[in-house]
Amino acid sequence: MAPTLRDVADDNDIRIGAAAAADPIREDFQYRDALREYNAVTAENAMKIGPLRPDEHTYDFEDGDLIAEFAREHDMYFRGHTLVWHNQLPEWLVPFQYTDRELRRLLEDHVRTVAGRYAGDVDTWDVVNEAVADDGGLRETPWLRAFGEEYLDKAFGWAHQSAPEADLFYNDYGADGINDKSDEIYELVSGMLDRGVPIDGVGLQLHALHDPVDPDSVAENIERFKDLGLAVEITEMDVAYTAEDPPEDHLTVQADYYREIVEKANEAGCDTIVAWGVSDQHSWIPHFDDTLTEDPLLLDDSYDRKPAYDAIVDLLS
Ligand code: XIL
Repeated sequence: MAPTLRDVADDNDIRIGAAAAADPIREDFQYRDALREYNAVTAENAMKIGPLRPDEHTYDFEDGDLIAEFAREHDMYFRGHTLVWHNQLPEWLVPFQYTDRELRRLLEDHVRTVAGRYAGDVDTWDVVNEAVADDGGLRETPWLRAFGEEYLDKAFGWAHQSAPEADLFYNDYGADGINDKSDEIYELVSGMLDRGVPIDGVGLQLHALHDPVDPDSVAENIERFKDLGLAVEITEMDVAYTAEDPPEDHLTVQADYYREIVEKANEAGCDTIVAWGVSDQHSWIPHFDDTLTEDPLLLDDSYDRKPAYDAIVDLLS
């Protein structure tokens, strides 16, 4: 039997992970076995504010705790995702019936409570997710409205106080290579470092959809953040093509792409790459964009290894 991703990742002192959900961990032994083929895990949804907060005064940690326990039991690097975001807000928070002051109190309580709950479990938090708008500037969110720009600094400060051992990341999409958005994130995190904000790293989501970004550009981008003294991780990788016109033999093309990303990112100093789902069966892609190929991950619908899985094992062997 060829080695698992976990075997080769451990040997190379790097992490290859997957986003995971609590229900299939509870219900499906094949899912549990497959998840153990990775040495890192991110909670795909369970630690977002919506799923965690059924009402204003209640925290429901059941799913988050289960994933944390799985990570602990299997000695996996655990990424917490995400403390501050504009999506998947709880229904009771939308539409807005809170004053700015109430919102400020609510977010502070949330970040302190959740970071504190998982202190010692979560190795790395995506503290703030997707704060930069696609057309430049900070995204208009309830948090920007309530706090102004300082919500980012504050969130990192609260997280650091509540989980002093955790590494704290800014995470975003569409900023994987060198482009206007990653330039802006570069300025954003440089400013945070100048102000002494406790930020440790930048997460590049790397949803490679339709037209995958050039791996050399990703490497160059990683290097510039590393030069600031920050860690860089690829946090949500999947690779899907336009379904109407995919490249010929797209699973082989996909395998080459995964291999090249892992190789070049690692050379550039990125030691963690997380795929956004355990297998194609669990990918968010078909729900997100039905014009894409439906097999973006490393294991297929039946948990069998795909060419992309083998390509990474081969690279790291
Ligand atoms: C996605 C999940 O995969 C879906 O299950 C959910 O319905 C929506 O969110 N960027 C992120 C992730 O930071 O949290 C998103 O995850 C995908 C895009």
